[in-house]
Amino acid sequence: MVMVPPLHYKYTFSAFSLLSHNQTQTKTKERSISSSLFIMSTTGQVIRCKAAVAWEAGKPLVMEEVEVAPPQKHEVRIKILFTSLCHTDVYFWEAKGQTPLFPRIFGHEAGGVVESVGEGVSDLQPGDHVLPIFTGECGDCRHCHSEESNMCDLLRINTERGGMIHDGESRFSINGKPIHHFLGTSTFSEYTVVHSGQVAKINPEAPLDKVCIVSCGLSTGMGATLNVAKPKKGQSVAVFGLGAVGLAAAEGARMAGAGRIIGVDLNPKRFEEAKKFGVTEFVNPREHDKPVQQVIAEMTDGGVDRSVECTGSVQAMIQAFECVHDGWGVAVLVGVPSKDDAFKTHPMNLLNERTLKGTFFGNYKPKTDIPGVVEKYMNKELELEKFITHTVPFSEINKAFDYMLKGESIRCIITMGA
Ligand SMILES: NC(=O)c1ccc[n+]([C@@H]2O[C@H](COP(=O)([O-])OP(=O)(O)OC[C@H]3O[C@@H](n4cnc5c(N)ncnc54)[C@H](O)[C@@H]3O)[C@@H](O)[C@H]2O)c1
Ligand SMILES: [Zn+2]
Ligand SMILES: [Zn+2]
Repeated sequence: MVMVPPLHYKYTFSAFSLLSHNQTQTKTKERSISSSLFIMSTTGQVIRCKAAVAWEAGKPLVMEEVEVAPPQKHEVRIKILFTSLCHTDVYFWEAKGQTPLFPRIFGHEAGGVVESVGEGVSDLQPGDHVLPIFTGECGDCRHCHSEESNMCDLLRINTERGGMIHDGESRFSINGKPIHHFLGTSTFSEYTVVHSGQVAKINPEAPLDKVCIVSCGLSTGMGATLNVAKPKKGQSVAVFGLGAVGLAAAEGARMAGAGRIIGVDLNPKRFEEAKKFGVTEFVNPREHDKPVQQVIAEMTDGGVDRSVECTGSVQAMIQAFECVHDGWGVAVLVGVPSKDDAFKTHPMNLLNERTLKGTFFGNYKPKTDIPGVVEKYMNKELELEKFITHTVPFSEINKAFDYMLKGESIRCIITMGA
């Protein structure tokens, strides 16, 4: 088996990990060359490495040796050093309410180092520290030119695409059989290929085992509050779902100076944890015999000023909307619903001057804004450690799924090469 050793030098990649197209038979020769030259570039070569492959919906991931093709036009190949599990991975792996696409390499919250770049990539180079991001920024479309949108025409989130935009093909294969990508990131692999528009270049001093969570959950929740719900100082904010995304939304509310932060979750274990994030009051819908909207309206003299839904449950989305105060209340949906869900509310709830919004990635533009979120951590304005409850080696990645499914983890960091 061809192993990928750790990075020896900042800008070089060991030849142990590579096999060029049609050069499988020269593997032994390459090994002896690599040991005599010690280091040679992997640029333009196929890299063999470990990846956790989902062969079937809901079945444990299997550690496989995959071949990762070189990056094509506008693509970069990244050596992933740390990745973490977000509930969106779990939804598409379970494929209960989503379109199944297997075999697939999941993963979209991660940090790594650029190994090589494809044609036409000028803003990234080998050695850059980066966060791959599930939605992108081409820089040229109307959305990228708008200050108000991060819904890039070319690179916006696409959960059904299993290949790269350039040619529709996968860059991953096992014995010639293609393995599908997920969200254009597929970070449950020691190496992955990502469109350069989905890659944020960050401060190389930033610890990747912490800032990897900025590449999805943290930014999504914090941005949903700060950029979309925009509570005013002293206002009340309800957060539905106290996983990493919801706790990041609470953190955003705390940063905005919210007066009351009401956490809503079905899992009572979440409440103790949430206190660290500035959540002051809790509602467990299971403990009430009236609708949660009504419980919250009674607690807040008619409704909260802002609410942020971070569960993925369509019932919670409706509750989050209907619990905001009429006249000015704003509700923001963040959770990813099932394919056939429909949002049902009486139109009068809107006529009564409530606002319903939704957001991907907290409205952050991945390349433009994310380096600044990492800087907030570096400047100690933002604490990431409290989101990280578990750490597992890559070989035990399935444990991260167990922790999330049991509701035990907020974020579990998966250490590659371990
Ligand atoms: N819009 C985006 O850009 C974006 C990005 C990342 C994640 N997401 C979505 O955000 C959601 C949260 O992700 P996460 O990683 O924090 O998940 P998580 O599983 O860690 O947390 C979800 C929490 O919601 C709670 N919950 C579930 N149903 C509920 C209900 N009906 N009422 C109250 N609480 C309920 C669960 O108990 C859990 O604590 C997921 O749907 C995920 O797919 C969206
Ligand atoms: Zn995510
Ligand atoms: Zn664009």
